[in-house]
Amino acid sequence: MAGFEEYSDPRLVAAYDSWDPARRDLVFYRDLAAAVSATSVVDVGCGTGRLAIELARRGHQVTGIDPSPAMLAIARRRDGGDLVRWVEGDASCLGPGEHDLALMSGHVVQVITDNDQLQATFAAIGRALPPGGRFAFDSRNPAARVWRQWTPDRSRRTLAGGVEVWFQDPRAHGDLVTFETHFSFPDGTKLVSRNKLRFRSYGWLRQALVETGFQVDPVDHDAPDLIFMATSTPRRRTAVVRIRSLSSSTWAGASATRSVSGPRPTWPTGAGLTRYAANNPLVGRRVHFRRTASGGAQACCVD
Ligand SMILES: C[S@@+](CC[C@H](N)C(=O)[O-])C[C@H]1O[C@@H](n2cnc3c(N)ncnc32)[C@H](O)[C@@H]1O
Repeated sequence: MAGFEEYSDPRLVAAYDSWDPARRDLVFYRDLAAAVSATSVVDVGCGTGRLAIELARRGHQVTGIDPSPAMLAIARRRDGGDLVRWVEGDASCLGPGEHDLALMSGHVVQVITDNDQLQATFAAIGRALPPGGRFAFDSRNPAARVWRQWTPDRSRRTLAGGVEVWFQDPRAHGDLVTFETHFSFPDGTKLVSRNKLRFRSYGWLRQALVETGFQVDPVDHDAPDLIFMATSTPRRRTAVVRIRSLSSSTWAGASATRSVSGPRPTWPTGAGLTRYAANNPLVGRRVHFRRTASGGAQACCVD
């Protein structure tokens, strides 16, 4: 992940919790875990572990996952850090059906700017939940255009340890917003982190969840934060499909129990048995294949 020195530089990670000491947003996740009587909770992108430890203290079994060793080091050292299983990595580390509630608090989805990577994260979380398992996360509402307030005069503040911080030069490129975060340390050291966040729309996020096997609860579109709650649908099946020689331009009639996601999915190329797991709810449909210019095969029609 380029940028975001605040998640990797130990001097800044130590000040992370002082960005927002109150963290009123975490109350929602705490109450959700209680409301669904979650036994096993995974906090994906757990950061310094504040939410994970609070949930563990309330009797949930909690796993906190984060790719940043520096953030996890703070989490482990916190009071109550021994109550949580910490994993350095991302959602791909999760085992099948391991948890009944998955959370991503603090706009983690926006930090994952690559759309394919976010879809893979949703799919991995779906696999980690049993059917009926719940998934909740938040993402800033692009309609609020909060980045317009990320100017030095409106954002300047002092963090723990006397680190002065401010945002500068926010620019929107479609739904991607780039900006600089400036840090000034008491000893005079200066540091600039060049960051980017993706402000995805409600529609995009909803579609990504549906394509990765979730049912999505209604969302308040007008709130400054889009708060998603989704439910994992029954296990996706794995299709085993024999791709025969593709000598003619169209080869139709294969019967697949699943197809790949997207309106024009790319089919695995090559002859022989191809085993793949896919995400798209096309169970039992007939998939037609046609040869592509590169000599591969493409599922071109589903009836
Ligand atoms: C804004 S912090 C949020 C931390 C925590 N969830 C909270 O509410 O305070 C974003 C976190 O996402 C983590 N992160 C970055 N890429 C990630 C990924 N692909 N999967 C999971 N977490 C990721 C970062 O290391 C960082 O700890």
